[in-house]
Amino acid sequence: MDEPDWRRFVAAYHHAHPAITERLFALADASPYAWLAEPLRDARGPVLDLACGSAPVRAELPDADWVGIDLSSAELAEAARRGRGPLVRADAGVIPVASGSVRAVCAAMCLPVVTPLPDVLGEIRRVLRPGGTLAALVPSQTGLSPSGTLSWVRVMAALRAVRQPWPNPQARDGLAALLRTSGFRVRSDERRVFRLAVDSADAAQLLADALYLPALTPRRAEAAGRSLARWAVRGRHLELPLRRVVADLPTGRTPQEPT
Ligand SMILES: C[S@@+](CC[C@H](N)C(=O)[O-])C[C@H]1O[C@@H](n2cnc3c(N)ncnc32)[C@H](O)[C@@H]1O
Repeated sequence: MDEPDWRRFVAAYHHAHPAITERLFALADASPYAWLAEPLRDARGPVLDLACGSAPVRAELPDADWVGIDLSSAELAEAARRGRGPLVRADAGVIPVASGSVRAVCAAMCLPVVTPLPDVLGEIRRVLRPGGTLAALVPSQTGLSPSGTLSWVRVMAALRAVRQPWPNPQARDGLAALLRTSGFRVRSDERRVFRLAVDSADAAQLLADALYLPALTPRRAEAAGRSLARWAVRGRHLELPLRRVVADLPTGRTPQEPT
């Protein structure tokens, strides 16, 4: 899929499924957004929530000088409906914010899907103050137990998908390395395996809808949901490995890269 087609898919997908990521994460045994927000709780200065979607991180940083941007008006409408703001409709590749004006950028579940990624990383660097922080949450492809792997095989078989064909696969487990080569100083790179309770027909359908698969027609998503509903018995969990990377922009004084 080329970039214009991908962008069309993303726009249509979020128009049809606003807040889909937040709804999926509501099935988790702990909040991935709370985990992401932890390193930003003491940030003194503006926090930019990049590709904020329905803005779940806003709820984790109630006292922050926070602003959320996203390209999807449906996602932003959902954020506003939940009382979250301020919100700006904007492209992550052309952030409408002055250079060096932001203390921290939060990027929840967006770096593997925003395009073109080099422009987005360039914009994050531009808007951050020297010494400013990027906290990013991305899916990880490692960390599954053997039974967790089997569960994912079951889910992907129901969806008749082999993988998620996202445009920036290097921004998942390779995110820390990518940020280093993009001029950031990586402070931490951690993986945590969350557990989604997929124990009802509704949860099964939500999962079938939430995996960002461009080839998935609404009809096939429904069929996958029905198939997964038979598997989604009481007590059923699906492991979800996520990676949190926290990186700082150098201040210009003696940056010390951890090895
Ligand atoms: C997987 S969702 C994550 C939403 C939210 N951060 C969360 O974790 O719940 C990805 C978000 O990226 C947004 N997005 C995709 N491409 C974008 C772009 N170029 N500029 C701004 N937002 C974009 C989508 O509209 C969507 O809200």
